Amino acid sequence: MIEYNESMERGLTMEFARVTEAAALACARWVGRGQKDLADGAAVEAMRSVFDTINMKGTVVIGEGEMDEAPMLYIGERVGSGYGPQLDVAVDPLEGTNLVAGGLPGAIAVVAIAKRHGLLHAPDMYMDKIAVGPAAAGKIALDAPARENLTNVAKALNKELADLTVVILERERHQKLIEDVRATGARIRLIRDGDVAPAVACAIEDSGVDVMMGIGGAPEGVLAAAALRCMGGEMQGRLWPEDDHDVERAKALGVEKVDKLLKMEDLVTTDDIFFAATGITEGALLKGITFVPGGAVTHTIVMRGLTGTVRFIEARHMFAKKPRYAAGGYETK
Ligand code: FBP
Repeated sequence: MIEYNESMERGLTMEFARVTEAAALACARWVGRGQKDLADGAAVEAMRSVFDTINMKGTVVIGEGEMDEAPMLYIGERVGSGYGPQLDVAVDPLEGTNLVAGGLPGAIAVVAIAKRHGLLHAPDMYMDKIAVGPAAAGKIALDAPARENLTNVAKALNKELADLTVVILERERHQKLIEDVRATGARIRLIRDGDVAPAVACAIEDSGVDVMMGIGGAPEGVLAAAALRCMGGEMQGRLWPEDDHDVERAKALGVEKVDKLLKMEDLVTTDDIFFAATGITEGALLKGITFVPGGAVTHTIVMRGLTGTVRFIEARHMFAKKPRYAAGGYETK
């Protein structure tokens, strides 16, 4: 029997880009059509089928839910050809279901892949998070007041506080955070949904986003942390259970101290990781899908933790040769 103890091969870069391209292409047909479940279903099915063309023994550790909640890409599901390295797979085939349903900016298809046990098995609950790019890594503390964090980030980025852009999910629970950030003079970009892309965008100098703060999904936190680890950025988080049931679920997934401050090494334990995301609708990180005569153009970011290489891939897909992405392809199912 062949043992796969070595690091993941660099050639997987392109394979994982194909996975998120497929999910984004499949659900792009649902943009603005008010059907978030059908959009999600199309993305899930496309992502699942491309995973199975890749030589790997993947186990979904962050996915569409528990086995009894999701037909595909559920936690514990095996993906890949069944030959090759044992890998942890984190997926969000459609990050921003409401964004796609409403035709709003910021939806992406996203995956992170690590050597086995390389990713925190985050339960599907909330996490309080703060994320920055490489220049401000080491300058943030989740428990520090917003003013202290933003002053330190501004200094690290050699910017005025008033020139910082902080992304925050527009939620009732963030009222105090929004007031605190506004009091510093920093600019806020409120988003409806989708906090993975802006967290990753913090690590891209000209993205227009400097900090992502606030309470969003814990699985989304791990996905963003994988990208930030590849790029040398930083995220800190803490699970934010809403009730005893959340606490039990976290414990069932092996999280012993639910109120533990989660640092980069807790969220992602290895550099042997890949991260890929494809834009569905236009956002701070990626352009969305555009349909062109006979096909569609995708924009994907893909990166590898071992080398820190970040690639932006613009791809043209022709429906004559990929009929499943043509109108009526995935959506008829
Ligand atoms: P979905 O794609 O599952 O709809 O999640 C989108 C999202 O906005 C995440 O980006 C974010 O972390 C989380 O939901 C926030 O949750 P809530 O909408 O409950 O505040």
